[in-house]
Amino acid sequence: MASLEALHRRVRARLAEWEAAGLRRVLRPPSGIDLSSNDYLGLAAHPRLVHRLVEAARIYGCGATASRLLRGHREIFTEVERRFAAFKGTEAALYFASGYAANLGVLTTFLEPGDVVFSDERNHASLIDGMRLTRARRVIFPHRDVTTLARLLREEVGAGQKFLVTESLFSMDGDRAPLREYAALCRETQTALIVDEAHAVGLYGARGSGLIEELGVADDVFLSINTAGKALGVCGAFVAGPAWAIEYLVQRARPFVFSTAPPPALLAALDEALTLLEEEPERRARVRENAHRFRAALAEAGVAIPDEDTQIIPVILGESARAMAVAAALQREGFDVRAIRPPTVPPGTARLRISVNVHADEAIAKRFADALARILREFPHGRGI
Ligand SMILES: Cc1ncc(COP(=O)(O)O)c(C=O)c1O
Repeated sequence: MASLEALHRRVRARLAEWEAAGLRRVLRPPSGIDLSSNDYLGLAAHPRLVHRLVEAARIYGCGATASRLLRGHREIFTEVERRFAAFKGTEAALYFASGYAANLGVLTTFLEPGDVVFSDERNHASLIDGMRLTRARRVIFPHRDVTTLARLLREEVGAGQKFLVTESLFSMDGDRAPLREYAALCRETQTALIVDEAHAVGLYGARGSGLIEELGVADDVFLSINTAGKALGVCGAFVAGPAWAIEYLVQRARPFVFSTAPPPALLAALDEALTLLEEEPERRARVRENAHRFRAALAEAGVAIPDEDTQIIPVILGESARAMAVAAALQREGFDVRAIRPPTVPPGTARLRISVNVHADEAIAKRFADALARILREFPHGRGI
């Protein structure tokens, strides 16, 4: 075998740079009160989901054994996709193995050379990677900046198709995209609107199908991507939209075509998650109440947070080392909060990302806010940590 000494040296040097910048990650299992997972509705370990998963595994086995286009397909995929489409209010839906795969699939399937894609500067890495894999021209616009976006869209008069890509609730900032304004702009400029509902599906809207529903913009959305590993408690993602677009994805989306189908039993668990969303709307109401209480408790304790009302609350701390130190101190006090560092967020904006779930009640909010305020005083800005 060739000597890999030079490669090993290069990797060691890169890791050392990463470490020196305070960016080295470690894999750590959950411990303490959950304020960092995306299990907003508490469905991941729900006995009814677990029961359906186990029961379905006895029927379908573990693996699907092949791509859906070959021997990997089972009717349960289609059944739950139909149910999801009805929930979302679209003609059809297609299940992918992850939100990452879904975003790559959607973008690489529809964006062609000559097209232009307008992308919010804070979009998730999976959207960025999907766009980068295409030869469409990318136009990055400032975060949620409707005025700039309107000008850019109106100026763009080429023959290619225009796309607008955004998250509906931004995963690291906890703020919402101005979807109503985007919908009107897309109508005016014949732009296909693609919305990633990763952190909104299951939580917003009367049926809980997301912010597209809550804001009443479904008619103006081309496709939505709805992860199933966050509020829905399982994994994968449903892409929802018109039947012709979903059919095109079945034919052409490479992460769908060239990958073994996910375990069919997951769809049984997701079916149960959709039933629980219907039967227990109070779960999503509770998440929103808890988020409201958390925000109030933090404000009362003097912790600066953005003026929003969602379940994702960023506490911007600046340098990575400071964010790490504060997160570690909170972990020692029994709170599972994680520091988010570049490149996940822009340089100089390392933060705690507090994600409030159905179990994070008022007592936890108060204890956490007091602990955080005290720890922030122990680790002030610019103390070189
Ligand atoms: C906005 C957004 N889109 C897509 C994804 C990817 O979804 P998944 O974790 O299912 O791959 C995530 C989460 O990681 C996300 O936050």
